[in-house]
Order: sequence, then structure tokens, then C-alpha cells
Amino acid sequence: MTSADDLRPLPADFVWGTATSAYQIEGAVAEDGRSPSIWDTFSHTPGKIDGNDHGDVACDHYHRWREDLALMRELGTDAYRFSVAWPRVVPQADGVVNAKGLAFYDRLVDGLCEAGITPHLTLYHWDLPQAQQDRGGWPERATAERFAEYAAVVGEKLGDRVKDWCTLNEPLCSAWIGHLEGRMAPGLTDLTAAVRASYHLHLGHGLAVQALRATVPGARVGIVNNLSPIAPASDRPEDLAAARRADGHTNRWWLDPISGRGYPQDMLDVYGVELPLQKGDLELISAPLDWLGVNFYFRQVVEDDPTGPAPFARQVPVEGAPTTHMDWEVHAQSLEDILLRVTREYGPERLYVTENGSAYVDTPGPDGSVLDPERTRYLEDHLAACARAAAGGAPLAGYFAWSLLDNFEWAYGYDKRFGLVHVDYATQRRTVKGSGRRYAELIAGHRARG
Ligand code: NOJ
Repeated sequence: MTSADDLRPLPADFVWGTATSAYQIEGAVAEDGRSPSIWDTFSHTPGKIDGNDHGDVACDHYHRWREDLALMRELGTDAYRFSVAWPRVVPQADGVVNAKGLAFYDRLVDGLCEAGITPHLTLYHWDLPQAQQDRGGWPERATAERFAEYAAVVGEKLGDRVKDWCTLNEPLCSAWIGHLEGRMAPGLTDLTAAVRASYHLHLGHGLAVQALRATVPGARVGIVNNLSPIAPASDRPEDLAAARRADGHTNRWWLDPISGRGYPQDMLDVYGVELPLQKGDLELISAPLDWLGVNFYFRQVVEDDPTGPAPFARQVPVEGAPTTHMDWEVHAQSLEDILLRVTREYGPERLYVTENGSAYVDTPGPDGSVLDPERTRYLEDHLAACARAAAGGAPLAGYFAWSLLDNFEWAYGYDKRFGLVHVDYATQRRTVKGSGRRYAELIAGHRARG
């Protein structure tokens, strides 16, 4: 069992947080002038989501945010990572601001500040206004430009109170899963569109950094990538090469350009798609950042897959390894490994684990309590991995557990529960799980050691 002692290498001012995203928790999709996003369209397309679930109500956080804020206090967290829904703020992505939509986040930020919880705001967690998708979406340069305009609007309104800003959450998922694999909105399976989307996401990030620096005094700006250590399934040269490609696809494609190294040539060769590069773009994309966010869920063991989609590498299950309800392997050591690798190879000023967590089947007991020993163990083991990374030199400044609440797990719907707090979707009743209580204890223990 992980103890406060194991966490000693984490700095005294370590940030303890939870994370959520707008579409996964808010609901109220047609309220106060919000327009549909690509996720409304996708989730209402029959067959795209398990159980044909959608985010129309989700956790009803739009109306219950005060209750959710009280839960954060109950856990003793000192920060909250949430996202702003672009379709609430600039519903048509045409520069016309919806004051009512913005007012929701204004209230939320005020509430957080009053509660002594630091807001960490993400501008884009996958919910592109459908109107902008109708104009071509991320494969088009204009989407990056519209994104920066929206960033400036949010920066101007909330920048007096919000200092911690994230431009994009997991652009890999938007580009590769949304445009190449088709398992996420907008549901395309087109390599050219995917590569162009990845490029314009990066450009949008760079332009948004510029917009935030201009509108938010003292902004601390970063980006969140989901990263995975990659291992070859065997020593066969084909599998070794596949692992190298999977690493390019998952890690280097997302870290190299924002770190001033341009796009990895080996991956440009693998994709064979010309980048819509214009003069000055690479400088914008690599604007200096204050921090890097790492979302960590699993490592990948891969084998060669010459007939599959790019990068022609297929993830294979590890025999006998423990897995979560997502079928993802549990391998906490990989979190230490990836944090140390990012530190070594990219030298960020500061790192956050911006998401980490696990889905398990939770069944409330007869007294209504929810005990989740597997998730508790997962949390402890991954926090211990963070502490080892910090001891090994990673400039790790905080950890955000995914997620505060059970919520809409994208294509998997509501069946997959990641919360430290259980949500009964029939009644919207929230119950802190055993893992949430353990998180609170570990936080309190670490603080007491100051
Ligand atoms: C990362 C994503 O940012 C989040 O939205 C998702 O729910 C978790 N991974 C779990 O899959």
C-alpha cells in the first residue's frame, strides 16, 4: 500500500487535482445559446456509441456545479482541471460571442476561487462547433484561426482569475481517432484529413498561445498530450520497426513540433502526406510553453501490421497482465518511464500529470457505499510512480485524477466509470467512492508533511 512516506519526493507545493471535460459532464446541450458540437452530431448517429448513449444530460453538471464543487472540497483537492465548451462561447465559430454561455464559466471560476480551488482551464476537449465542421473542421487552416479567436474571448473574460491554461487536450485523439480511425467525432477514416487535422491542431495551439499571452497577464500556458511508452512484441526486426513507427505516431509527432524540432521525418515518410505548411508556422507551433501535460493510461506493446492503417503497427494484449474495464493493461511503471523520458528528451520547465485513472465496474453496496479496491490500488500505484519520477528528476508539479465524476466515456458511453465519485444517472446522486476517500487521505498526509 502506498503511504504518505512514498509520496515524500513530491514537492511540498505539489498540486492535487481532479479533471473533467465539458461534453462528458455538463449536459444542458441546448441551453443558454449553446450550439451543437461534432460530439452531439456523432453521438446522435445510431451505432456510433455503445448503447447509443449521448451527452444530452450527462452528469447535469451545468446545473449541479455547486454540488460538484463541494465534492472537490470534500476530497481536499486544491485544483480543478475542466474544459470550456467552444459551442457555448462562440456557438457558430464566427466571432459572435454568446454572453450567456460565457457567464456559466464565469460563475464556475468565481465559485472555484471562493472555495480556494485553482482553476486549470482547457480550451479544447474535442467539442468543435458543428458549424465549423461544416466549413471543413480541423483539416482546414481556418479552424486554427477561429480557435485562436475563441481563445482570446475566453482569455479576456476569465484571465483575471484563471492563470493556468491548456490549449488542447489530447490532439492525438482529435486527429488520429477522429479522422483516421473514425471511432471519435467527426468519424472520418482518411489519412490525408488526419494529417492535415494534426497540423492545424498544432497551428491552432500556437496561435492560441499567442492569444493567451496577449490577453492574460501572467498566464501559464501548456498543452496536454496522451503519451505511451511503446515496446515491441518480439525481437523480430519487423516488430522493432513497428514499435519505432508507433512511437512516432503516438509520442514524437506530438512532442517534436511543439518543442521546436519540426515534424519527425520518418513519420512524414510513413504517412506520405504533404503538410499544409506556411512560412512562420513552425515558429508559432513551437512557441515557448510554461508546462507540458501528460495524460497516461497505458503502454503499448505492438507488432508489425503491414496491411493495417498508418502507422502499420498493431497493439497486442500482454498475456496474464491485469487490465481495467476498458481492457487497458495496468502498468504503473510506464508512468514513471514516460515522465522521465519527456524530462530527458524534451526538458520541459514543468510537468503535470493532467489525467490518469481507471474504469472498473462499480456496484453500490446495500447501504449505498461504493467500494472500489482495484481503482484505489491503481491510484496508489500510479502516485507512487509519480513520486519515483520526481525523485529521478522529473519537474513534476501536480497530478489530476481522471475523473472527479463518472461521466460520458465517449464511444463507450456511460458503461465505463472512471470517477472517484459515483454517479447514479437515474437520480444524479453522487457518492464518493472508496478511491475518492483514499485520495483525500493521501492528499492530507502529503500536506501534513509539508
Ligand atoms: C482521456 C480523455 O482526455 C478523457 O476525455 C477520457 O475520458 C479519458 N482519456 C479516459 O478514456
